[in-house]
Amino acid sequence: MKHIDGFSKLTKAEKIAWLCDTYFPEVENASALFERYQNADAELQKLHDEFIENTVSNYYLPFAVAPNFVINGRTYTVPMVIEESSVVAAASRAAKYWQTHGGFHTEVLDTQKTGHVHFFFHGEKADLTAFFARVQPLMLANAQPITANMEKRGGGITSLTLEDKTEALAHYYQLSATFETLDAMGANFINSCLESFADTFRDEAERDPLLQGKYEVVMSILSNYVPNCVVRAEVFCPVKDLKIAHLEGETAARKFVQALAIANADVYRATTHNKGIMNGIDAVILATGNDFRAIEAGAHAYAARTGRYKSLSDAWITGDTFHFALELPLALGTVGGLTNLHPLVKTALAILEKPNARELMQIVACVGLAQNFSAVSSLISLGIQKGHMKMHLNNIFNQLGASEDEKKVLTAYFKDKTVTHSEVKRELEKLRG
Ligand code: MEV
Repeated sequence: MKHIDGFSKLTKAEKIAWLCDTYFPEVENASALFERYQNADAELQKLHDEFIENTVSNYYLPFAVAPNFVINGRTYTVPMVIEESSVVAAASRAAKYWQTHGGFHTEVLDTQKTGHVHFFFHGEKADLTAFFARVQPLMLANAQPITANMEKRGGGITSLTLEDKTEALAHYYQLSATFETLDAMGANFINSCLESFADTFRDEAERDPLLQGKYEVVMSILSNYVPNCVVRAEVFCPVKDLKIAHLEGETAARKFVQALAIANADVYRATTHNKGIMNGIDAVILATGNDFRAIEAGAHAYAARTGRYKSLSDAWITGDTFHFALELPLALGTVGGLTNLHPLVKTALAILEKPNARELMQIVACVGLAQNFSAVSSLISLGIQKGHMKMHLNNIFNQLGASEDEKKVLTAYFKDKTVTHSEVKRELEKLRG
């Protein structure tokens, strides 16, 4: 029976037993599928169990580091959590390259976050505008208990306006607020403020004859589109010093700029190009306990901000200098949420020498740029498969249960050959006689 009521009320052992009975009735000792990954440290396991509901096991991803990131003159070793082979190697390769070519240069352009109370109003706009002008100070005052601590630290609500969205949707308006949340990602803070604005709005509108019965608050929620919480990372070097595999100087720079022009002109290429950037970004976001879904959503919306989905990065030549830059929104936190809870997140932040949110934005952007540099460099020179398949080969070995000695022999064999799963299998079987 696949239908079950009250699953969340079962103990963890009961949940595992139900899964085993329902989906693995033929498997002997099926509970081992889940139990193998439980941590022997009961306290640590309990911590992970309680991050979410219905936890039955852990799901491991590799935690790696990419060293040699020189950012504004300071060297960082960057923690990365990702399953895709070759991402960390690619980031490290680019970091090492730019270490000797002037390093990464970054700038935080702004750190404003946004949220809205979405509502409909069926009366005269002038009445709503007058109502908002009267009630706006009260909304801010009523949110004081929520904002007091943040204000003490220098953050808080930075604006609260009424927005007319009726051109997009009939009768649709917003209370639109911006926030400075300092080192916190700030989702709870922002949503609490917005819900407080909505409460004040409703209370006051109920007492106002010009609004009564003419409005409906639909929802209050932050936006993951943060075009004013943006960081920029750039590398540059004399064109003559640029070397990408066998391509050198002007040829390397020209091909690189062409690849970026294509990513700006074509949505199919732009999507894959940006995916490569996010390979690096998501890995650091995960390692540092931030919300990769929020970052992904915000980045792709930003890539489409002109009405056409484009590359998040750009490359150009001015005079004798090659430039390569990435600009994207990153609403990150280095306090609160998982950063205080997950032991490996704490370790990751310690490896980064406890950055504040602005520093983390800059580090993350550099990893995105490095990742993009490596991917585009491979694409315009030797092709992507050479590097990919070298890493992939190891995964195939592991899938096939190859021994260390067998791996050595087969790695040498495939050095100058195309790697496919079936070819590796065939060669391994041959080797084993
Ligand atoms: C693969 O994960 C990422 C790339 O496809 C990115 C790109 O094409 O730029 C290599």
